Amino acid sequence: MIELLRRFGGKFRRYMVIGPACKLIEVIFDLLTPLVIAQMIDKGIGAHDVNAVVHYGMLLAAMAVIGISFTLVCQKMAALTSQGMGTDIRGALYQHINKLSYAELDRFGTPSLITRITNDVNQVQLAVALGVRMLIRWPFLAVGSMCAALAIDLKLGMIFLICTPAIGLVFWFVMARCIPYYRQLQAKLDRIALICREGLSGARVVRAFVREDHERERFAQAADDQANTAIAVGKLSSILNPVTFLVMNLGVCAILWVGGIQVNVGELTQGQVMAFVNYMTQTLTSIVYVANLVVVFTKASASASRINEVLNCVPSIADEGNQPVALPEPSNAAPVPALSLSHASFSFGAGAANAVNDVTLELPLGKTLGIIGGTGSGKSTLVSLISRLYDASTGSVSVMGSDVRTWPLDQLRRVVATVPQRASLVSGTIRSNLTWRDETATDEELWAALDMAQASEFVHNKPQGLDAPVEAGGKNFSGGQRQRLTIARALVGAPQVLIMDDSASALDFKTDAALRHAIRERSVRGAAEGGLPLTTVIVSQRVSTVRDADMICVLNHGSVAGLGTHDELYAACQLYREICQSQLRREELEGQQGSTTPVSTPIASASVCAKEGC
Ligand SMILES: Nc1ncnc2c1ncn2[C@@H]1O[C@H](COP(=O)(O)OP(=O)(O)O)[C@@H](O)[C@H]1O
Ligand SMILES: [Mg+2]
Repeated sequence: MIELLRRFGGKFRRYMVIGPACKLIEVIFDLLTPLVIAQMIDKGIGAHDVNAVVHYGMLLAAMAVIGISFTLVCQKMAALTSQGMGTDIRGALYQHINKLSYAELDRFGTPSLITRITNDVNQVQLAVALGVRMLIRWPFLAVGSMCAALAIDLKLGMIFLICTPAIGLVFWFVMARCIPYYRQLQAKLDRIALICREGLSGARVVRAFVREDHERERFAQAADDQANTAIAVGKLSSILNPVTFLVMNLGVCAILWVGGIQVNVGELTQGQVMAFVNYMTQTLTSIVYVANLVVVFTKASASASRINEVLNCVPSIADEGNQPVALPEPSNAAPVPALSLSHASFSFGAGAANAVNDVTLELPLGKTLGIIGGTGSGKSTLVSLISRLYDASTGSVSVMGSDVRTWPLDQLRRVVATVPQRASLVSGTIRSNLTWRDETATDEELWAALDMAQASEFVHNKPQGLDAPVEAGGKNFSGGQRQRLTIARALVGAPQVLIMDDSASALDFKTDAALRHAIRERSVRGAAEGGLPLTTVIVSQRVSTVRDADMICVLNHGSVAGLGTHDELYAACQLYREICQSQLRREELEGQQGSTTPVSTPIASASVCAKEGC
């Protein structure tokens, strides 16, 4: 909490001084009130002096008005500080989360990050507001009342001195047991958020697989777990108020009893006894409020450490100090490989098996690399290494001859455009979704990208064309349309390397073929116009999508099972042959039998087959 205050409180220091100062003035009036009432009773009511009653009454009213005015100023300061800090923390969190690499995002998990940015910031905000308003009020009121009471009469003050520690002890007993629960509650809220997110975002799949009962059960368990903890805390803290008020009222009875005797013998006036009772209740209610502050601050400090954990998390993928990389000149670009991986491996965590294992390959500029393999074979992870969404654990990955770690991330991701496996669109318009890579792209460029992505027809059919609305997650488009729009998005801004991660899976074969043809044409046209030819990486589970690639990489459990052209691999790689046999029609395979001799291409000479008998 202190760390957050230090980091975000500076701007609001003035408010944090003015607010409590105003509160202090209000507390002074609160402390004076019982004394004025005592005077009113003794000099006005006791002496049957109506004028004195009116006089003191007006004084009380004036004190109340002044007190309220200062309170209002304090409330305003509290609101400005807490809302301002809350907004700043939320902004800083959001900005920092956007800098984190996939590895850190995986570690925190999206639901937990959402809870931190919403609920945890709210808890801190609440604590800041209460801090400005109440942190001074209650302790000051408690101590002030106690001193004032002791000043009136030391003997009665002994009752005070017995009641206060008794209540303090009860609070300590209860709070010490409650605090660990408050910390647990936060983590349990995370779990509910996770289940909610999974259940709601996957609602269609849940229904399709008739898993509603299972999901409901899972949610109910998490909610019950959270509720049980909340009830346990509730039960513990519910004894606080009755016990406090019992002790307090016993104290008041004792004061009235002893005070009554003293009034009779003339040691005290009735007004002084009343003032004593008022101070007693003020002190003891202050303790109750201080305890509530402890609860709020405990929750807030648990939340603050969760927020700090994110803010202090250093992104493992950084590009500080990296100088822009000079792209090869088109005239002498040929010797520079567009992509090269050298013994690149990656694992998702210590102890986990390598998701990518010792991959070595080199792809010349303008060529197409196909990556094929079963689900979970490491295809997506492998291509994530190229745009540095993850860093290779060992080995190296280079783009245009420079290690990806030496690229400024902005430049790398401008040069390498990735179409992710899950087509994701955000709410807005088609245009706002297409211009992510280049905000200044003209309509002509957008239509050209849509043409290549085989998406222009359905966009043309929309009455608003490029300005047609896109709903959250692109749910007003079909899976295939979403995929084509994300492909078009990657093509805007003239990338030099295009990575399509299973991006044609929802396209029919004809559209898929037309898309690949358009990309190849663009590559040739780019080179003819004096630019760099487009280098493409196509990830797919379909042989038909990768068979024309200049080089195909067959992945199996993260390792390269074969590398070469379709013909070479069909002849030499058993796994690739099996994939072909399971997917291609008999006629296509028969056409294949005659061409088992590798066709020599510049890349074919680098062909390898990683496994014995493969
Ligand atoms: N974020 C992640 N955290 C932990 N393991 C992961 C993560 N993403 C993928 N994996 C694991 O890495 C392996 C390769 O996954 P992936 O590259 O997505 O395969 P593919 O794209 O070939 O289907 C799988 O075993 C998968 O379980
Ligand atoms: Mg994948």
